[in-house]
Amino acid sequence: MKIIINGAGGKMGNILADMAGHENIAALVDVAFTTADGKYHALDDFGGEADCVIDFSNHSATQAVTSYCVKRNLPVLIASTGQTENEMTLIREASGKIPVFISPNMSVGVALVADIAERVAKLFGDCDIEMIEAHHNQKLDVPSGTALMLAKRLQEARKDSTLNIGRHENGKRPANEIGIHSLRYGSEVGTHEIIFSNGLETITIRHDAKNRALFANGALSAAKWLINQKPGLYGMKDYIAG
Ligand SMILES: NC(=O)c1ccc[n+]([C@@H]2O[C@H](COP(=O)([O-])OP(=O)(O)OC[C@H]3O[C@@H](n4cnc5c(N)ncnc54)[C@H](O)[C@@H]3O)[C@@H](O)[C@H]2O)c1
Repeated sequence: MKIIINGAGGKMGNILADMAGHENIAALVDVAFTTADGKYHALDDFGGEADCVIDFSNHSATQAVTSYCVKRNLPVLIASTGQTENEMTLIREASGKIPVFISPNMSVGVALVADIAERVAKLFGDCDIEMIEAHHNQKLDVPSGTALMLAKRLQEARKDSTLNIGRHENGKRPANEIGIHSLRYGSEVGTHEIIFSNGLETITIRHDAKNRALFANGALSAAKWLINQKPGLYGMKDYIAG
């Protein structure tokens, strides 16, 4: 599989390029590069053979990434986080023409946590649900894309719930809230903890990412799966379902 890596100059791009191996790289692209010696400043500067694009850059690249992939009929895996509603519209439009995979967290462990959490939210009565996420102090989006993805899954089980992001107001906790609390410190790779409590018992589900390589590993495996899919919008839920 020949991959174009967008955001190749960043932390994740570098890990992904090392893990994929030289023979599987079609092109390394990053706005921080100048186009020379197998490196490219922009996707449009590369027209060679490729099987897919993996994007670990920034959500602001959405327009460039989706239009390039549609133009070249290339599957794309978008691992960048923090997309705006307009950018999500571009992604949905592209998925009508090419296979598009998007996940704010490429960890299989987190995908399993999402499944379990949705099940607990469905079956564990009228419990309070609170989520704590922790990341390194350079992370741009708050709360994390993963926390929002987990919250969306919880809300699929609790249709009447509302999100309270960064609770700070005085007063009793409303019953149908899902609280999200973000911590930012040091070099924390990424922790997500979901607490369910009905006053008599508490269930806590926690995922700790120990090494960023796990996201690159998940992206490579999912990309191998993606290149055999029809046009459509896919995520980790589809991938772990096989
Ligand atoms: N889905 C996941 O599992 C997962 C895991 C870790 C990080 N991320 C996300 O991946 C992205 C990158 O993370 P990182 O830690 O490597 O960040 P980083 O800041 O180290 O690297 C980002 C790179 O993208 C480049 N870039 C920025 N805008 C660009 C554009 N428009 N086109 C091409 N390149 C561009 C930058 O020059 C930089 O080299 C972030 O959105 C982050 O939240 C996702």
